[in-house]
Amino acid sequence: MAIRNLITHPPALPMVAPSILSADFAELGDECRACLAAGADLLHLDVMDGHFVPNLTMGPALCRSLRRALPEAFLDVHLMVERPGDFIAPFAEAGADHFTFHVEVEADPPALAEVVRQAGMTAGLAINPPTPLETILPFVEAFDLILVMSVNPGFAGQKFMGEVLDKTRALHPKLRADQRLQMDGGLNAQTVAACREAGCDVLVAASAIFGAPDYAHAVAELRGVPHPAARS
Ligand code: DX5
Ligand code: ZN
Repeated sequence: MAIRNLITHPPALPMVAPSILSADFAELGDECRACLAAGADLLHLDVMDGHFVPNLTMGPALCRSLRRALPEAFLDVHLMVERPGDFIAPFAEAGADHFTFHVEVEADPPALAEVVRQAGMTAGLAINPPTPLETILPFVEAFDLILVMSVNPGFAGQKFMGEVLDKTRALHPKLRADQRLQMDGGLNAQTVAACREAGCDVLVAASAIFGAPDYAHAVAELRGVPHPAARS
C-alpha cells in the first residue's frame, strides 16, 4: 500500500517527482522501478486531453497498471484536462494517491477538492504561467498542494520560465507545514536551485531524469544533495 500521507506529512523535503511523460512507455514498469530505486519519492502522471493542452498522454488504465505493478509507489496525478471532476472517481479507483487539477478550468476549486478527498486522495491546485497569482489565492488553504507551472503545459523538454518564481516566493509564506509547493516544467540542474530557494518542495522533472544516463545522479542533483555514489 502506498504512503497515503506523503504530501501532508513528508519524511523529508524537498521531494523529487519524476514525470513519466518522458519515460520509454514500452518499458514503463521498469522505468518507474528504476526511478524509485534511484531515490525518487513519488511518480508524477501528466494527464492531457488534447483540449486544455495540445497533447494526449495517459488515463486511468495506465494508472491502474502502475498501481498493480508498483503497489508501494505514491502516484501523483496532474490533470491537464477541461473537466477534471469527471476523472476523480476513475483515478481514485485506479489507485491514484494524489489528484491535482487546474484553477483555469474550475469555478469552485474548494468544492472539487472536497470530492477528491472523499475519494481518498489528497488534492492539488495548479496554475499556468500566464494566470495571475490572485486567481489562486482565495483557494490556497483548501488544498494539500499548490502546483506552480513553470512552462505552458503540453510537452516535456520546454524552457523554464523564471518569472513564475515570483509566484512561489509569494505563496510559500502563506502555506501551512502540511501543505506542499510543487513546481513543474523545465527543471534541471541549472534551474532547480532557484526553485528550491523560492520555496518549492516537490520538484517535478521529466526530461532531466529520463534523459539522463544515471537516474540516481539526476535525482540527487534535483534534490540538491551530493550524488549518492560520492558519499563516503
Ligand atoms: C507539462 C507537464 C510537465 C512536463 C515536465 O507539460 O505537466 O510535467 O512534461 O517536463 P520537463 O521536466 O521535461 O520540462
Ligand atoms: Zn505535470
